[in-house]
Amino acid sequence: MNFISIDSVFFEYDNGYEALKNINMEFNLGEKVAIIGQNGAGKTTLLKLINGLNKPSKGNIIINKVNIKDKTTAEVSKDVSYVFQNPDDQIFNNDVYSEIAFGPKKNGVKGNSLKKIVYEAAELCGLTDDLKKNPYDLPYATRKFVSIASVLVMQSNVFLLDEPTAGQDKIGIEKLQKIIDYLIKKNKIVITITHDMEFVVNNFDRIIVMANGQKIIDSNKKEIFWDEEILNVARLKQPYISSLAKDLGVPGQPITIKEFIKQKSSDLYA
Ligand SMILES: Nc1ncnc2c1ncn2[C@@H]1O[C@H](COP(=O)(O)OP(=O)(O)OP(=O)(O)O)[C@@H](O)[C@H]1O
Ligand SMILES: [Mg+2]
Repeated sequence: MNFISIDSVFFEYDNGYEALKNINMEFNLGEKVAIIGQNGAGKTTLLKLINGLNKPSKGNIIINKVNIKDKTTAEVSKDVSYVFQNPDDQIFNNDVYSEIAFGPKKNGVKGNSLKKIVYEAAELCGLTDDLKKNPYDLPYATRKFVSIASVLVMQSNVFLLDEPTAGQDKIGIEKLQKIIDYLIKKNKIVITITHDMEFVVNNFDRIIVMANGQKIIDSNKKEIFWDEEILNVARLKQPYISSLAKDLGVPGQPITIKEFIKQKSSDLYA
């Protein structure tokens, strides 16, 4: 049985706009998945349904054997943690420590156990030296890690990351990779929305492409990043290394630098 099943889900906003049309997907524990696609494709809307912030207009979402239709967002959030696209929609405490500690404290964690999980999350997110600071005195990219740390401590089974790569430099991207690896090692589900195709090819094998409120394909990198029709429909940029390979006529449809070099060297010695 899948941990998350999304079954024939439709979603309409109050103004009548149908943002999701017949979505079917499954996710299992220990899986990391990237959701990509043009602006307005419905990616954030979908995460807000998985998180229980919005309810499907039609169809069902089953998480951990329970239909979340009748659950409150607070109940769903025991299984599902959501890192908002904009950290400022999430942060409300006056110092980083309190922000990270807020959720577990509310769940009754205290004393040394609380301190331990806050420090572990802070370290993973590179925030150890910022714990006493006001989150709003930190740069946007660091605030995003504050919002990530404050959901890591919830220890839910599912982590939804909405555009975690936005505004991050190389160190920030490496930190994100480390956090995702940490969660996967703990057998969690990580679902990430991103517009950063290099981040996708370097970190995800399973990729879901969305366009116009629909799922276009749920597959692997090669099937997606070498398919011109999919790239056009979802307005996706082919990863740099793949378009270079295409221009140079390098065979084997490489997606990563490693694959490109392998193809090039077998070319040279052929
Ligand atoms: N509150 C709302 N009321 C009406 N329409 C909305 C609302 N929020 C989003 N939409 C519309 O629903 C569609 C899907 O939006 P959504 O935010 O899910 O897209 P997205 O794939 O996350 O895009 P982006 O990559 O730009 O973040 C868009 O056309 C958007 O304008
Ligand atoms: Mg979005």
